[in-house]
Amino acid sequence: MSTSFVPATEAPLRRTGEIKLYDIPSAFAGMRAAGQLAAGCLDMLVAETKEGVTTARLDDLARQYVLDHGAMPACVFYRGYRHTICTSLNHVVCHGIPGARVLRDGDVLNIDVTVILDGWHGDTSRMYAVGETPRKAQRLMDITYEAMMRGIAVIKPGATLGDLGYAIQSYAESERCAVVREFCGHGLGRVFHDEPNILHYGKRGQGDTLRPGMMFTVEPMLNLGAAPVKILGDGWTAVTKDKSLSSQYEHSVGVTETGVEIFTTSPAGLHQPHTLTG
Ligand code: MF3
Ligand code: CO
Ligand code: CO
Repeated sequence: MSTSFVPATEAPLRRTGEIKLYDIPSAFAGMRAAGQLAAGCLDMLVAETKEGVTTARLDDLARQYVLDHGAMPACVFYRGYRHTICTSLNHVVCHGIPGARVLRDGDVLNIDVTVILDGWHGDTSRMYAVGETPRKAQRLMDITYEAMMRGIAVIKPGATLGDLGYAIQSYAESERCAVVREFCGHGLGRVFHDEPNILHYGKRGQGDTLRPGMMFTVEPMLNLGAAPVKILGDGWTAVTKDKSLSSQYEHSVGVTETGVEIFTTSPAGLHQPHTLTG
Protein backbone atom coordinates (compact mmCIF):
# COMPACT_ATOMS: atom_id res chain seq x y z
CA MET A 1 0.00 0.00 0.00
CA SER A 2 1.78 3.14 -1.16
CA THR A 3 0.68 6.73 -1.47
CA SER A 4 0.25 8.20 -4.93
CA PHE A 5 2.16 11.22 -6.15
CA VAL A 6 0.92 14.31 -7.96
CA PRO A 7 2.77 17.24 -9.56
CA ALA A 8 2.32 20.07 -7.06
CA THR A 9 1.35 22.49 -9.82
CA GLU A 10 -1.70 20.31 -10.61
CA ALA A 11 -2.81 19.83 -7.00
CA PRO A 12 -5.24 21.97 -5.01
CA LEU A 13 -3.77 24.05 -2.18
CA ARG A 14 -4.71 21.59 0.55
CA ARG A 15 -4.04 18.14 1.90
CA THR A 16 -5.53 15.66 -0.59
CA GLY A 17 -3.97 12.33 0.45
CA GLU A 18 -1.48 12.44 -2.40
CA ILE A 19 2.18 13.41 -2.06
CA LYS A 20 2.99 16.59 -3.97
CA LEU A 21 6.11 16.62 -6.11
CA TYR A 22 7.49 20.13 -6.47
CA ASP A 23 9.58 21.63 -9.23
CA ILE A 24 13.30 21.73 -8.69
CA PRO A 25 14.74 24.35 -8.76
CA SER A 26 11.89 26.89 -8.61
CA ALA A 27 10.03 25.53 -5.57
CA PHE A 28 13.32 24.79 -3.84
CA ALA A 29 14.36 28.43 -4.28
CA GLY A 30 11.15 29.53 -2.56
CA MET A 31 11.62 26.99 0.25
CA ARG A 32 15.25 28.00 0.70
CA ALA A 33 14.22 31.63 1.20
CA ALA A 34 11.43 30.73 3.65
CA GLY A 35 13.64 28.24 5.47
CA GLN A 36 16.50 30.71 5.83
CA LEU A 37 14.12 33.31 7.22
CA ALA A 38 12.74 30.87 9.82
CA ALA A 39 16.29 29.82 10.73
CA GLY A 40 17.35 33.46 10.96
CA CYS A 41 14.53 34.01 13.46
CA LEU A 42 15.86 31.14 15.61
CA ASP A 43 19.36 32.65 15.31
CA MET A 44 18.04 36.01 16.55
CA LEU A 45 16.44 34.29 19.56
CA VAL A 46 19.72 32.74 20.74
CA ALA A 47 20.89 35.95 22.44
CA GLU A 48 17.39 36.64 23.79
CA THR A 49 16.80 33.26 25.42
CA LYS A 50 18.20 33.85 28.89
CA GLU A 51 17.25 33.91 32.56
CA GLY A 52 14.48 36.36 33.48
CA VAL A 53 12.88 36.56 30.03
CA THR A 54 9.30 35.41 29.53
CA THR A 55 8.35 33.07 26.70
CA ALA A 56 5.77 35.71 25.67
CA ARG A 57 8.66 38.15 25.11
CA LEU A 58 10.38 35.62 22.83
CA ASP A 59 7.12 35.27 20.91
CA ASP A 60 6.87 39.07 20.49
CA LEU A 61 10.44 39.22 19.19
CA ALA A 62 9.82 36.36 16.79
CA ARG A 63 6.61 37.87 15.41
CA GLN A 64 8.31 41.23 14.88
CA TYR A 65 11.26 39.57 13.14
CA VAL A 66 9.04 37.59 10.79
CA LEU A 67 6.86 40.60 9.89
CA ASP A 68 9.91 42.86 9.47
CA HIS A 69 11.26 40.40 6.90
CA GLY A 70 8.12 40.43 4.78
CA ALA A 71 6.77 37.09 5.93
CA MET A 72 3.76 35.87 7.93
CA PRO A 73 3.78 33.69 11.06
CA ALA A 74 2.10 30.46 9.90
CA CYS A 75 0.86 29.45 13.36
CA VAL A 76 -1.19 32.59 14.07
CA PHE A 77 -4.83 31.54 13.53
CA TYR A 78 -3.72 28.00 12.66
CA ARG A 79 -6.44 25.81 14.21
CA GLY A 80 -7.09 28.59 16.73
CA TYR A 81 -3.44 28.99 17.80
CA ARG A 82 -2.57 32.64 18.55
CA HIS A 83 1.22 32.77 18.61
CA THR A 84 4.21 32.89 16.27
CA ILE A 85 6.30 30.28 18.07
CA CYS A 86 5.80 27.26 20.28
CA THR A 87 7.91 27.34 23.46
CA SER A 88 8.25 23.86 24.93
CA LEU A 89 10.04 23.80 28.30
CA ASN A 90 11.65 20.81 30.01
CA HIS A 91 9.03 17.99 30.11
CA VAL A 92 6.89 19.72 27.46
CA VAL A 93 7.23 17.65 24.29
CA CYS A 94 5.87 20.19 21.80
CA HIS A 95 3.25 22.93 21.23
CA GLY A 96 4.03 24.78 24.47
CA ILE A 97 2.20 28.13 24.45
CA PRO A 98 4.22 31.33 25.06
CA GLY A 99 3.14 33.22 28.16
CA ALA A 100 4.16 34.72 31.50
CA ARG A 101 6.54 31.90 32.43
CA VAL A 102 9.98 33.37 33.18
CA LEU A 103 13.03 31.42 32.04
CA ARG A 104 15.12 30.09 34.92
CA ASP A 105 18.62 28.74 35.32
CA GLY A 106 18.67 25.10 34.24
CA ASP A 107 15.67 25.27 31.89
CA VAL A 108 15.84 23.65 28.48
CA LEU A 109 13.56 25.12 25.85
CA ASN A 110 12.49 24.17 22.35
CA ILE A 111 11.54 27.09 20.14
CA ASP A 112 9.61 26.13 17.00
CA VAL A 113 8.79 28.70 14.34
CA THR A 114 7.01 28.43 11.02
CA VAL A 115 6.92 31.28 8.51
CA ILE A 116 5.16 31.80 5.19
CA LEU A 117 7.24 33.73 2.67
CA ASP A 118 5.80 34.26 -0.83
CA GLY A 119 3.49 31.30 -0.17
CA TRP A 120 6.28 28.91 0.91
CA HIS A 121 6.56 27.49 4.44
CA GLY A 122 9.76 27.37 6.49
CA ASP A 123 9.39 25.21 9.64
CA THR A 124 12.24 24.65 12.08
CA SER A 125 12.99 24.24 15.77
CA ARG A 126 16.03 24.04 18.02
CA MET A 127 16.85 23.49 21.69
CA TYR A 128 18.09 26.35 23.88
CA ALA A 129 19.76 25.99 27.29
CA VAL A 130 19.21 28.61 29.99
CA GLY A 131 22.24 29.03 32.26
CA GLU A 132 23.73 25.84 33.63
CA THR A 133 21.74 22.83 32.48
CA PRO A 134 22.07 19.30 33.89
CA ARG A 135 24.47 16.98 32.06
CA LYS A 136 21.66 14.50 31.33
CA ALA A 137 19.68 17.27 29.62
CA GLN A 138 22.69 18.22 27.49
CA ARG A 139 23.11 14.58 26.53
CA LEU A 140 19.44 14.26 25.52
CA MET A 141 19.68 17.38 23.35
CA ASP A 142 22.93 16.18 21.72
CA ILE A 143 21.28 12.86 20.90
CA THR A 144 18.16 14.56 19.53
CA TYR A 145 20.19 16.71 17.13
CA GLU A 146 22.25 13.73 16.03
CA ALA A 147 19.07 11.63 15.55
CA MET A 148 17.57 14.31 13.29
CA MET A 149 20.76 14.55 11.25
CA ARG A 150 21.04 10.75 10.93
CA GLY A 151 17.47 10.68 9.62
CA ILE A 152 18.22 13.44 7.12
CA ALA A 153 21.42 11.69 6.03
CA VAL A 154 19.54 8.70 4.58
CA ILE A 155 17.26 10.88 2.42
CA LYS A 156 17.74 10.35 -1.32
CA PRO A 157 15.61 9.07 -4.21
CA GLY A 158 14.96 5.35 -3.73
CA ALA A 159 15.29 5.38 0.06
CA THR A 160 12.05 4.76 1.97
CA LEU A 161 10.35 6.63 4.79
CA GLY A 162 10.92 3.48 6.86
CA ASP A 163 14.67 3.86 6.29
CA LEU A 164 14.42 7.40 7.66
CA GLY A 165 12.40 6.37 10.71
CA TYR A 166 14.70 3.42 11.34
CA ALA A 167 17.81 5.63 11.29
CA ILE A 168 16.31 7.88 13.95
CA GLN A 169 14.76 5.19 16.15
CA SER A 170 17.71 2.78 16.12
CA TYR A 171 20.15 5.52 17.09
CA ALA A 172 17.87 7.06 19.77
CA GLU A 173 17.11 3.71 21.38
CA SER A 174 20.77 2.65 21.28
CA GLU A 175 21.33 5.73 23.47
CA ARG A 176 18.44 4.72 25.77
CA CYS A 177 16.16 7.54 24.64
CA ALA A 178 12.49 7.03 23.69
CA VAL A 179 10.98 8.26 20.42
CA VAL A 180 7.62 10.03 20.75
CA ARG A 181 4.94 8.38 18.54
CA GLU A 182 2.01 10.80 18.79
CA PHE A 183 3.62 13.53 16.65
CA CYS A 184 5.45 13.26 13.38
CA GLY A 185 7.03 15.29 10.60
CA HIS A 186 4.96 16.28 7.61
CA GLY A 187 4.98 17.24 3.97
CA LEU A 188 5.58 20.97 3.57
CA GLY A 189 5.54 23.46 0.73
CA ARG A 190 2.57 25.61 -0.20
CA VAL A 191 0.64 23.64 2.47
CA PHE A 192 1.75 23.62 6.16
CA HIS A 193 0.89 20.07 7.22
CA ASP A 194 0.69 17.94 4.10
CA GLU A 195 1.14 14.32 3.04
CA PRO A 196 3.17 12.30 3.89
CA ASN A 197 3.44 11.78 7.64
CA ILE A 198 7.12 11.45 8.53
CA LEU A 199 7.34 8.92 11.36
CA HIS A 200 10.47 9.06 13.49
CA TYR A 201 10.47 5.30 13.94
CA GLY A 202 10.15 2.49 11.45
CA LYS A 203 11.55 -0.48 9.65
CA ARG A 204 14.07 -0.44 6.83
CA GLY A 205 12.54 -0.77 3.38
CA GLN A 206 8.99 -0.02 4.55
CA GLY A 207 6.82 2.97 3.72
CA ASP A 208 6.73 5.21 0.69
CA THR A 209 9.79 5.49 -1.52
CA LEU A 210 11.32 8.96 -1.74
CA ARG A 211 11.28 10.83 -5.04
CA PRO A 212 12.96 14.02 -6.23
CA GLY A 213 10.78 17.05 -5.55
CA MET A 214 9.32 15.81 -2.25
CA MET A 215 9.57 18.36 0.56
CA PHE A 216 8.91 17.64 4.24
CA THR A 217 10.07 18.15 7.82
CA VAL A 218 12.14 15.87 10.03
CA GLU A 219 11.37 16.73 13.66
CA PRO A 220 12.05 13.93 16.14
CA MET A 221 10.94 14.30 19.76
CA LEU A 222 13.01 12.23 22.19
CA ASN A 223 12.35 11.59 25.88
CA LEU A 224 14.74 10.60 28.66
CA GLY A 225 11.97 8.48 30.19
CA ALA A 226 9.08 6.66 28.54
CA ALA A 227 7.61 7.61 25.16
CA PRO A 228 3.92 8.30 25.97
CA VAL A 229 2.62 11.88 26.03
CA LYS A 230 -0.58 13.58 27.15
CA ILE A 231 -2.18 16.87 26.15
CA LEU A 232 -2.92 19.45 28.84
CA GLY A 233 -6.29 21.14 29.31
CA ASP A 234 -5.34 24.06 27.07
CA GLY A 235 -5.71 21.66 24.15
CA TRP A 236 -2.16 22.29 22.88
CA THR A 237 0.61 21.63 25.38
CA ALA A 238 1.93 18.08 25.02
CA VAL A 239 3.92 16.74 27.99
CA THR A 240 5.61 13.44 28.82
CA LYS A 241 3.26 11.29 30.90
CA ASP A 242 6.09 10.43 33.30
CA LYS A 243 7.27 14.09 33.44
CA SER A 244 10.68 13.11 32.08
CA LEU A 245 12.68 15.60 30.01
CA SER A 246 11.85 15.89 26.32
CA SER A 247 13.77 17.40 23.45
CA GLN A 248 13.19 18.17 19.76
CA TYR A 249 15.00 19.49 16.72
CA GLU A 250 13.37 20.21 13.35
CA HIS A 251 14.56 20.92 9.82
CA SER A 252 12.63 21.44 6.58
CA VAL A 253 14.18 19.49 3.69
CA GLY A 254 13.72 18.68 0.02
CA VAL A 255 14.64 15.53 -1.92
CA THR A 256 17.00 16.37 -4.79
CA GLU A 257 17.95 14.19 -7.81
CA THR A 258 20.85 12.75 -5.82
CA GLY A 259 20.18 13.39 -2.13
CA VAL A 260 18.74 16.04 0.13
CA GLU A 261 18.80 19.79 0.66
CA ILE A 262 18.24 21.25 4.13
CA PHE A 263 16.29 24.50 3.75
CA THR A 264 16.55 25.61 7.38
CA THR A 265 20.31 25.61 8.04
CA SER A 266 21.35 28.38 10.42
CA PRO A 267 22.64 31.48 8.59
CA ALA A 268 24.74 32.34 11.67
CA GLY A 269 26.02 28.80 12.23
CA LEU A 270 24.02 28.43 15.46
CA HIS A 271 22.87 24.91 14.57
CA GLN A 272 22.78 23.68 18.17
CA PRO A 273 22.10 26.58 20.52
CA HIS A 274 21.74 24.11 23.42
CA THR A 275 25.53 23.69 23.46
CA LEU A 276 26.03 27.40 24.17
CA THR A 277 25.96 28.56 27.75
CA GLY A 278 23.70 31.55 28.22
N1 MF3 B 1 5.64 24.11 13.94
C1 MF3 B 1 4.90 22.96 14.38
C2 MF3 B 1 5.33 21.82 13.50
O1 MF3 B 1 6.49 21.53 13.50
C3 MF3 B 1 3.44 23.17 14.31
C4 MF3 B 1 2.93 24.10 15.33
S1 MF3 B 1 1.26 24.26 15.09
C5 MF3 B 1 0.82 25.42 16.22
O2 MF3 B 1 4.61 21.25 12.74
F1 MF3 B 1 -0.35 25.82 15.87
F2 MF3 B 1 0.88 24.86 17.38
F3 MF3 B 1 1.67 26.40 16.20
CO1 CO C 1 7.75 23.21 13.61
CO1 CO D 1 6.80 20.79 11.52
